[in-house]
Amino acid sequence: MNKKTDSSVLREDTKVVVSGRDTKNYGGVINPPVYHGSTILAESVESYNSRYLEAKEGEQVMVYGTMGNPTAWALENAIAELEGGYHCSTYPSGLAAISVALMAFLKSGDHLLMTDSIYAPTRRFCDTVLRRFGVETTYYDPLIGAEIESLMRPNTAVIFTESPGSNTFEVQDIPAIAEVARKHGAITQLDNTWASPLYFKPFEHGVDISIQAATKYIVGHSDVLLGSVTTTRENWKILRDCTWHFGQCVAPDDLYLAQRGLRTMAVRLRQHQKSSLEIAEWLSNRNEVRQVLYPALPDAPGHEIWKRDFLGASGLFGVELETFSKKAVEKMIDEMRLFGIGSSWGGYESLILPVNVRDLRTASPWRFEGPLLRLHIGLEDVDDLKDDLNDGLERLRNFQS
Ligand SMILES: Cc1ncc(COP(=O)(O)O)c(C=O)c1O
Repeated sequence: MNKKTDSSVLREDTKVVVSGRDTKNYGGVINPPVYHGSTILAESVESYNSRYLEAKEGEQVMVYGTMGNPTAWALENAIAELEGGYHCSTYPSGLAAISVALMAFLKSGDHLLMTDSIYAPTRRFCDTVLRRFGVETTYYDPLIGAEIESLMRPNTAVIFTESPGSNTFEVQDIPAIAEVARKHGAITQLDNTWASPLYFKPFEHGVDISIQAATKYIVGHSDVLLGSVTTTRENWKILRDCTWHFGQCVAPDDLYLAQRGLRTMAVRLRQHQKSSLEIAEWLSNRNEVRQVLYPALPDAPGHEIWKRDFLGASGLFGVELETFSKKAVEKMIDEMRLFGIGSSWGGYESLILPVNVRDLRTASPWRFEGPLLRLHIGLEDVDDLKDDLNDGLERLRNFQS
C-alpha cells in the first residue's frame, strides 16, 4: 500500500483493491511492473553476499529469479493480508502449493491425518510420494470434528483439512480440529480454495497454513494456473526454505495476471454467490433433485457451521439427483448450451460435471443414493443459466434407453 494507511481499519472491498500495491516506487503506475529476470546484478561482491543473508532473514530483496521479485510480492503480500496470515508464497499450480506445504512440514516417520473428502490429486500425492518418503496417511471422516483426537498419534505432525470437501461439500469444524492439533503439537493445514481469501479467514479459526488454488477465484478468468500458501509467523521460514529448496517459483506474466484478477475478486464473488443461491434454491424445488449441497442454503448439510464460521459462499456446489441412469445424466450434460464440461472452476463461466468419487472414499460413509453433479455458477445472466438447466433436467426426466 502506498499512502500511510493502517490497513487493519480498512473494509474488505478496499483491502482487495489496495493490499500489496506499491505505486510509489514504480513511477505511479497502478499495477506492479512485470519483472522478467533470472540473474539479478549486484553492485559489489559484498552486496551480493549481504542481500542473500537479508533475504534469508525474511526481507523481500531481489537475489535471484527463483527467490521472488516485486511482481511476486505484490500478489503474495495481498493474499497474506486478505487471508490474515504473516507471509505468502506462490507456486505454479494449486497442486504444487499443496505438495510443497505437505513436504515442508512432514518427514519420514511422521503421521498425517487427511480428510477423506480431499481433492483427489492431493490424495494421490499422499498415497504415492509421501508414502515413498515414509509418511503414513490416515484418512478421516470430514465430519469428525473434535473426535479427531481419537486418531492422533505421538507422531501426528499435520492435520490436513478442506472445507467444504471436494465434490461432496462437507463443512468441517475447523476450530475444533485445529484445537486438537494444537493440543497435541501438530499443525493444521487448510485447502481454503472454495471460500477464497475473502469468505473464510483461516488464521482466526486456528489454522496454521492456508492454501489457495489461486487458479480459481483469485485468477478468476480461467487463463492461469497458480497456487499460494500463507502461514503464521512461526511457520513462515520452514515453508519459505522448502519452497526455495524445491526451486518453486511462478512466471512473472502469470503473477501479474493473478494480481490483476484479484482486484475484482470481491465483486465477482458477490455475483457468484447471488446467482448460486438463486439457482441452488430453484434446483432444490425441482422434482428431479434430491438435495442441493450448497452450504449457504438454510437446509443444506453443514449450513450451521458455515453460518458460524464463513463470511460468504462461492459459486461451486453439488446436486444429488433422484435415481437416474448414468446415460440419462450424460444426455442431460452433453447437450447443455451454456454450462461447459471441464475441470477446474472459479472462472467467469459456468461448468457442470458428473461426480464419480465414491470409490475414492475410504474413511467415511457414502451419504448419497442418487447420482451427483458438480456445478460452477459463473457470471452469465442467471435466467439464461436456469433455462439451460431446465432443458437439461427435462432431457434427464425424458431419457429413454
Ligand atoms: C479444492 C481444490 N484444491 C486444489 C486444486 C488444484 O488447483 P490447480 O488446478 O491449480 O492445481 C483444485 C483444482 O481443481 C481444487 O478444486
